[in-house]
Parts: sequence; C-alpha cells; structure tokens
Amino acid sequence: MQLTFQSRVTKSATLAINEEVAALRASGEDIIHLGFGEAGLPPHPLLMEALARGASRNFYPSTAGSASTREAIAEFFSRQRRLPTKAEQIVTAPGSKALLFALMDATKGAVVLTRPSWVSYGAQAALLGRDVIWVDAPADQGGFPDPDQLESKLIQATDSGIIPAILITTLPDNPTGSVPAPQTVHAVAKLVRKYNLLHISDEIYRELIHDPTMPIVSPADVLPDNVVVTGGLSKSLALGGWRTGYMRVPDSSFGARLAASVVAIGSEIWSAMPAPVEPAVEIGVSDNPEIQQRIADSAALHGTVARAVYQIFCDLGVACRAPEGGFYLYPDFGRYRDTLLSKGVTTSSELAHHLLRNHKVATLPGSAFGDKPENLCLRIATSMLYGSTPEEKLAALAAPGQPTPVIRSNLARIRAAFSALLSPDA
Ligand SMILES: Cc1ncc(COP(=O)(O)O)c(C=O)c1O
Repeated sequence: MQLTFQSRVTKSATLAINEEVAALRASGEDIIHLGFGEAGLPPHPLLMEALARGASRNFYPSTAGSASTREAIAEFFSRQRRLPTKAEQIVTAPGSKALLFALMDATKGAVVLTRPSWVSYGAQAALLGRDVIWVDAPADQGGFPDPDQLESKLIQATDSGIIPAILITTLPDNPTGSVPAPQTVHAVAKLVRKYNLLHISDEIYRELIHDPTMPIVSPADVLPDNVVVTGGLSKSLALGGWRTGYMRVPDSSFGARLAASVVAIGSEIWSAMPAPVEPAVEIGVSDNPEIQQRIADSAALHGTVARAVYQIFCDLGVACRAPEGGFYLYPDFGRYRDTLLSKGVTTSSELAHHLLRNHKVATLPGSAFGDKPENLCLRIATSMLYGSTPEEKLAALAAPGQPTPVIRSNLARIRAAFSALLSPDA
C-alpha cells in the first residue's frame, strides 16, 4: 500500500529563493540577491558576548519566557513604544512567526489580509484551513487595507456566512516598504471596533523606520483593547537565526486569556524561546546606547540603499511606493507589459524567473504575497547588497548615509540588469 501525506503549503517562497540562490552560487553563478528578507548585517558584539555567556543556560525556560526577559520586553514597550506594559502582557517564542501562527490558531473565523502582504500570513491561514478575505492596499501605502474596500469586503463576507475574526497588518510593511498614514490607521481602527475584530499588528520592522521624525501611529495606540503587537529582534538587530519573537497582548481579561491560549499552543509545539538567547534579548530591547546606535545606523543604512534602488526604478519609469521603513520595495512593471510580453513574460512568477535566468537577479514574484498572478510586481529586498564579509558590512554601517564601493557596484549591476530587462532589444 502507498504511504500518503498531505501538504497544504509549499516551502516559504522567501526561504526557497534563498536556497536556490545558494545552489546557483555554488555552481559558479554570480547572482545579485534581492530575494531574501534577512537584515544582512553582523550581530552586535554585546549581543554575541551575551549569547556566549548564555550557553550554560541549558534549562527549559517557561513557555511564555523567563521573568526577566518578559520584564525587559515590557519595559521596552513602555519606554520605546509609549505603551504602558506589564510583564504578564508579554509572551516570547522562537520567532514571531510562531506567535502569529498560534494567535491565528487560538481564534476562530476568517483572517483579513492586505493584498499584497507578507508570504507567511496567507500560508499560515491555509495551514489552519482558514478563509482569507483579501483587501487591496491603497495605491500609495502598504501594510494596511484600503479602509473603504475593507468595509465592503467585511459586509460581503458576513452576508455570505463567513465570519471575519482577525485582521493582520504590517507596520512598516513587507513587501512594500511603506508605512500607513495615521489617518489610514484611524480609519481601519474604526472598522476593527465596529466589526469586533482582533487586530494583530506585526511591527517587526518598527525600529527600522528610515526617518526617525516620521509621525507613526500604531493600531495599539488607537484601539489598545483589540490589538496584539508582535515583533522581535530578527530585523532591527539582524538576529533572524537566533529566533527572538515576542508579542504584547491587551491589558485585559481577554488579553490574559489569549496569552494563555498562545502559551498552551507553544507548550505543545516549541516549548520556549531558546534559553541561551534570552540574555541577549534583554540587552537588545534595553536602552543601552551602543545598541540604540546600532539600530539607528542600521535603519539609516537600509534607508539609504532602499532609496537608491527606488531611484533606479523611478529613472526607468517603473511605478513603486517610496520606501519608508525596513528594506523592501514593491515595483510594478505593468507599464512595460508589452515589452515583457515580447519576452514571454505574462505573470509575476514568469518575470521573477526571467530575471533570474537571463539577468542573474533573484527577486520574489508578487503572487507569493497574495497578489494577482497577472500583476507584474516583484518584491525586492535591498538588505543583501552590503557585502559578503563582516568587514564589508561593518564598513557599510560605519557610513550609513554613503554607499560603500561594494554597494555602489551592486547598484550599478541592478541598474544595468533592469535596464536590459525593460529594453525591447535586450
Ligand atoms: C512581516 C514579517 N513578519 C514576521 C517575520 C518573522 O520574523 P521572525 O524572525 O520573528 O519569525 C518576518 C520575517 O521575514 C516578516 O517579514
């Protein structure tokens, strides 16, 4: 008899492209990697020392996290995000991805997602067999649904017997790199209240807003009782592989019950954030001036390079939201549809493959982010352009406003590749 199995999702597109690029590079290909959302910078020495000291911590921490770690994260929210927070409102995990999954599992009903949005929200909803209600982002913003369309989609869903339960938004956004205007956050909050939704605000890129003076409104500032904030140090301190996720639930009996549900799920799946990592997390969320400086330099560097790549798209007449946070761009090549059609490209997936095969540039297709396949959009990550050695990356961080020779050379290659892609003759 044949053994059987079921697979509701395929390997995450971002991890898959990273492995494909590694294999191509191993076979001698020189690839420009714009496909992977890793922060592309070395860990700060203070964090490495803390991790080394933590190696002897070989016990299982409690699933929600050790008391001192939850306390440090609560202080971070109170100090940095101006959201008064108690340690009991914090739950940690090996990555915020795990928390997002558990939050979805802990609640019933359909999941409302922005189109485009981060690959894993839709995939996790599929794993849990949840209906997804897709709502387009406004043309000039990302990470949040267009408020008017949101209301009509919520009415439509309810009329057809689908109960919307959770809204997930991303601030700043992956894939568009943009930050919602405060009035969008307020308009969406009104609907969250009216339709009694749980709003998960994924703020993993929040420390990487390029302009520190930009006015930011978090959903948790507007509607604290409905909002869970998730985050971690994967992006702000480039610790993706250390698995440092956390969430903050509302200060209410609902928040306490939700946290308990997530902890129960975690206790059966991941047990806890790795104990050796906890002391480093405590430093990473502290107001240590060296750490604060590292985060500020990283945000500035990501901004400089994202804007330089954005300028290339602007020069080529490709529509793109301006980057405001994190290290992503989401250009739309629709204006070049005829040229691309002459090269056999009709979908974003074909576009990404064509670029990789013919121009040695790795990107991700918009379809991986829930976008319609025929929309010729790509998700561009600009954080892998800083160099291949720790020295090159530290040199980039030392002058965050001024691209190093390595970065300038990568930018020149990107300009040449996209110019060739969009030229009818190349
Ligand atoms: C929008 C968004 N949320 C969450 C995550 C997951 O982060 P973590 O490393 O905390 O699991 C990522 C990582 O790419 C992301 O881009």
